[in-house]
Amino acid sequence: NWSMDDFIDQQIEKIRDTVGDKKVLLGLSGGVDSSVVGVLLHKAIGTQLTSIFVDHGLLRKNEADQVMESLKGKFGLNIIKVDAQKRFLDKLAGVTDPEKKRKIIGNEFIQVFNDEATKLDGIDFLAQGTLYTDVIESGTSTAQTIKSHHNVGGLPEDMQFKLIEPLRTLFKDEVRELGEKLGMPHDLVWRQPFPGPGLGIRVIGEVTEDKLQIVRDSDWVLRDEIAKNGLDEKIWQYFTVLPGIRSVGVMGDGRTYDYTIGIRAVTSIDGMTADFAQIPWDVLQKISVRIVNEVDHVNRVVYDITSKPPATIEWE
Ligand code: XMP
Repeated sequence: NWSMDDFIDQQIEKIRDTVGDKKVLLGLSGGVDSSVVGVLLHKAIGTQLTSIFVDHGLLRKNEADQVMESLKGKFGLNIIKVDAQKRFLDKLAGVTDPEKKRKIIGNEFIQVFNDEATKLDGIDFLAQGTLYTDVIESGTSTAQTIKSHHNVGGLPEDMQFKLIEPLRTLFKDEVRELGEKLGMPHDLVWRQPFPGPGLGIRVIGEVTEDKLQIVRDSDWVLRDEIAKNGLDEKIWQYFTVLPGIRSVGVMGDGRTYDYTIGIRAVTSIDGMTADFAQIPWDVLQKISVRIVNEVDHVNRVVYDITSKPPATIEWE
């Protein structure tokens, strides 16, 4: 007779037993899994937990503030926020290949995390949001189940942490249920998947601050309309992409030559395959009008109508 309340009690006891009076470090990505781990651990061991949240500048609009407000403000977690936007942008300058961008972002993330972690004294444990699906997929022992995919990368080389993975037996929907039970905000717990490299793979080609701004602002409009129209929990993922091409338009009496924004919205069960979401025309129309009006340097909006396969969900 398994209940989530029992699970919470058992985990808290187990975490306290394991940790004793030692300290735990957690890498927060802003995603569901690491946030739930943070709140659970905080409940169990309070100030013995320190979290590091790396803002790589590739998050969505207001996302870093929301994470801080909710986890630090509401739940009282001790979070060290690292503003590393410039470090990432510098490393990404001139790089256009998607896989190279992924590698750079992943490596830089580990570097920044390690730089911060080495400043801390007396940490014995590293907490991670490893899920049951990660355990199955990797098929190896605990120490190897670190998702290179996700924001929290490898262990600092000169530090030996023991791992704490309280979500190891849970599926994603159970993690969400756990989050709700812990009193976390609904929209944090039910947020759509967001890739580790973030907006870095939604600006096609070279990533610049100007282009990130356009993606952030257009994505903000899209999310706002999707939510207003009650579609946010019906669509698996929805976001905007900046392909980087410019085209001719007309505004008032003048000719414009500005960027195109692509809208990507898909339904899916697990992200392995996906169909483009059939967003009602009137909603798409509203989104299009608002993006062109509210986002500088955009004069055209297109809707991606390919499924996966043959396309992927992300454009890079
Ligand atoms: P694709 O684009 O391969 O995406 O159809 C499938 C799912 O994976 C996410 N995705 C990533 N997640 N790091 C991540 O953490 C990545 O490099 C990455 N690339 C794609 C994508 O958002 C979708 O949910």
